[in-house]
Amino acid sequence: MKKIVAFNWKENPDNLSRVGGIVRAVLRSVPKKRLTIVIIPPALFIEKVRKLIGVRKEEVFLGVQNVSHLEKGAFTGEFSAAMLGSLKVTHAIVGHSERRYLFGETDKIISLKIKSCLKNKIKPILCVGEKKKMPQEKSWSFIRRQLETDLPKIPDPKLRTLIVAYEPVWSIGGNRKVNPSHAAYMIDKIKSFLYSVYGRRYSVLYGGSVGCKNIKNFLKYHQIDGFLVGSASLRPAEIRCLLKLI
Ligand code: 13P
Repeated sequence: MKKIVAFNWKENPDNLSRVGGIVRAVLRSVPKKRLTIVIIPPALFIEKVRKLIGVRKEEVFLGVQNVSHLEKGAFTGEFSAAMLGSLKVTHAIVGHSERRYLFGETDKIISLKIKSCLKNKIKPILCVGEKKKMPQEKSWSFIRRQLETDLPKIPDPKLRTLIVAYEPVWSIGGNRKVNPSHAAYMIDKIKSFLYSVYGRRYSVLYGGSVGCKNIKNFLKYHQIDGFLVGSASLRPAEIRCLLKLI
């Protein structure tokens, strides 16, 4: 399986004029056929990023950070998975901790978002992760509950496109670093759980303060199928370095 690198720009940059520089840094550093790269800008910049990606469809994909759980109608401010499909968006982050805890997204809403993505052929990147540092078994039971409530109870063939990202909330934003062996352990648990329920092997990424300085430590673990990168996604030098090392 190819490793996946997803660049989550979050609410950045604050000006459309900076988009080109970031996307070009990715495009210039794409290692041929080795990686699947997903650029995930703010939804307002999708069209610009799509044009910049142009013909590099084989290796560079376009994602969004959020999607409505509702199909269509009088829901001011929302955009649907069907709309995203019509804009050639291929991936959507669902259940990022910033959406869960800053915007009150519940597991019920997250499960509806996943259903809507699957129905509209958008690949969901489901984020799970414990809120604070705790003993591994406690972390695992927290994550297991997220998986059980966010994902369909019974195997659904459409779910084959699912990607999971393990993002311990306490490690996001560079405050506290995760031991890569902890990430690998959790990812193993997530994969075994998904296999036991759906009989399939899924890609599970790691996210949380990934950058050029620490990526090599994570790459030692074969369990980690790729990375969901936050702040380093915005810095061309970091992008170049990450894509060279992965
Ligand atoms: P940072 O890489 O900035 O810690 O963000 C991680 C993240 O939340 C990616 O979705």
